[in-house]
Amino acid sequence: MNATLLDIRRPVEAELARYTQLFDEVLTHKEGFMNQALAYVRGRKGKMMRPILVLLIAKELGEVSESTLRSAVTLELLHTASLVHDDVVDESNERRGQASVHKIYDNKVAVLLGDYMLANSLHQAALTNKVAVVEHVARLGATLSEGEIFQLANVEREEISEEAYYRIIRNKTAALFATCGALGALSMDAAEDYCSKSEKLGEIIGICFQIRDDIFDYFDDAKIGKPRGNDMREGKLTLPVIYAVNSTQDPQALNWAMRVKMHEASAEEISSLIDFTKQHGGIEYAEDVMKQLADEARDLLKDYKNQEVKASLEAYIDFVIRRDY
Ligand code: IPE
Ligand code: IPE
Ligand code: MG
Ligand code: MG
Repeated sequence: MNATLLDIRRPVEAELARYTQLFDEVLTHKEGFMNQALAYVRGRKGKMMRPILVLLIAKELGEVSESTLRSAVTLELLHTASLVHDDVVDESNERRGQASVHKIYDNKVAVLLGDYMLANSLHQAALTNKVAVVEHVARLGATLSEGEIFQLANVEREEISEEAYYRIIRNKTAALFATCGALGALSMDAAEDYCSKSEKLGEIIGICFQIRDDIFDYFDDAKIGKPRGNDMREGKLTLPVIYAVNSTQDPQALNWAMRVKMHEASAEEISSLIDFTKQHGGIEYAEDVMKQLADEARDLLKDYKNQEVKASLEAYIDFVIRRDY
C-alpha cells in the first residue's frame, strides 16, 4: 500500500492549515532574540504525526472543535519542547535535517526555550476550557520525564530485558500518542468508550513508532534528518539487539552489550554488535512485533463510521510501521 503522509492528511487538510496557523502564532514573540530562536524551531515542522492523529480521531465524530485544534497545538508543542531537550540530553547535533537548537545556540538557550514551549503547551491546554484536557497534559509531562529518566537509570543496570525496554518507550513515546488519542476524543466531548478506545489506539501506535525509530539507528540513511548510531553510543540497547543477545545467549555479544551499557564499547565493538543483531534476526523480530501490534490497532477501527477517516487511520498505522523517515 505504502501511503504517503499527504494521503493520510487529506481528510483533515483544512483543519491542519488552521492548526498550523495557531501553532505558528504561539511560537511567535515580539522580542527580537526570543522570536529569532522560536523562528528557528517554527521553520522546520517535522512530520506532524501527533496533530494529524488528534484531528483524525476528532473528525470521526464530526467537524472538529476549537478545543481539538488547541489540543493538537498543545501536544505538538510538548513534543517539540521534548525534542529540543532530548537533543541536549542525548548530545545529538542534528534534528529535522538541520542543526539542533543547542548547536545553533547553546545548552542554556535550548533548556530555556524548551521550558518556554512547555509552559505554552499547558497554556493552550487551559484554553480548551476542559479540566480533563489540562489534567491529561500535566500528567503526560510527568510521564515523559519519567521515561527519559528511567532510560538514563536503565543504562547503568546490568539486566538486558524487553520489559525494561517497553517500560521506557511506553513512557517516553507511547504516552504522548495515547494522549493524542484521548484528547482527540475528549475535545469533542466523546463518550467514555470512544475516549478509551482512542487512547489505546494511540498507545499502540506510539509503541510501534518508537520501535521503528529505534530500528533507524541500525542503518545509514540520510533521509531521516538526524544522526544514526547514537543509541548505543549513549549506552542504550533497543529491541533488535535485546532480542538478538537474549535469544542467542552468545557470550561475545553479551560482552559487547554490557560494554555498551558501561560506555566502554569502542566504535568497532558497536559495529560488531549491530552486525550480530542483523545476522541473528533482531530487525525481523522487531518488525514482527510491530506487525502484530498494527493488527491490534486496526482492530480498534472496525466500528468507525467515517470511511475516509478510517482509511486514513489505517494508512497512518501502516506508515508508522514502514516509514523510512
Ligand atoms: C521523534 O519523533 C521522536 C520520537 C518519538 C522517536 P518524530 O519522528 O515524530 O519527529 P518529527 O516531529 O517528525 O521531527
Ligand atoms: C524519543 O527518544 C523520545 C523523546 C522524548 C524525544 P529518542 O532519543 O529515540 O528520539 P530521537 O531519536 O532523538 O528523535
Ligand atoms: Mg534522542
Ligand atoms: Mg531515536
